[in-house]
Amino acid sequence: MFASRMLAFRMKIDVLTIFPEFFKEVFDFGIIRRARIAEIVEINIHDIRSFTTDKHRKTDDKPFGGGDGMVMKCEPIFDAVEKIVGTGERENYPQGTKVILLSPQGRVFKQSVAREFAEEANHIVLICGRYEGVDERVNDALVTDEVSIGDYVLSGGEPAAIVLTDAIVRLLPNALGSETSAVNDSFTGNLLDYPHYTQPREFRGMEVREVLLSGNNAEIERWRREKALEKTRLSRKDLLEGEMKDEK
Ligand code: ADE
Repeated sequence: MFASRMLAFRMKIDVLTIFPEFFKEVFDFGIIRRARIAEIVEINIHDIRSFTTDKHRKTDDKPFGGGDGMVMKCEPIFDAVEKIVGTGERENYPQGTKVILLSPQGRVFKQSVAREFAEEANHIVLICGRYEGVDERVNDALVTDEVSIGDYVLSGGEPAAIVLTDAIVRLLPNALGSETSAVNDSFTGNLLDYPHYTQPREFRGMEVREVLLSGNNAEIERWRREKALEKTRLSRKDLLEGEMKDEK
């Protein structure tokens, strides 16, 4: 029996946020919902405010040194991680634990990063930053990875936490109905996905390509690869460099 089968869950994801309501139903659909029901992943949402100890339940404060905006305080985040992981010291995290801070300063999230987390982690804690930032001591002592979902600024890390969770969970063993679906996804092998068609064969004068109806698998494969290359060349030329290198 595989070790992963002996565990109730292959992966646990804990999200730390000051807006737990944001996540109310977002993980209740499709593949993520199925993966939760099948106990492939357990997802918990934690309100950072519930880890405050002061009368006003403050999660943010003015920045030392002055400047605009507010900074998220470190104490409730340390307390939350300590409770969830069992320690607030990065060196002592159990193996397979990733504490990820979502911020525009992080390394950019891509399919290869999703794959890395899906393969290496069994427990992911996602810290959703807000305001002007998070007290840097969170980064210094707790965070194993700082991740951005792209070169733009969101109002907070919450949408990024949803993006990471979705992209990682669908890569977990048995999360997808068909094993080949993830293999053919865009970005697997540095190519975008090929075009897909279903019934009807003809719609408003637009016909499905003959080759797809031919039953000739080798021809279909060739056509799909050509189309994937064409699409990648048009939309994401930068990806092709990697693809050509892989083929050498
Ligand atoms: N928080 C604000 N902007 C972000 C981004 N681009 N990625 C992740 N977290 C963020």
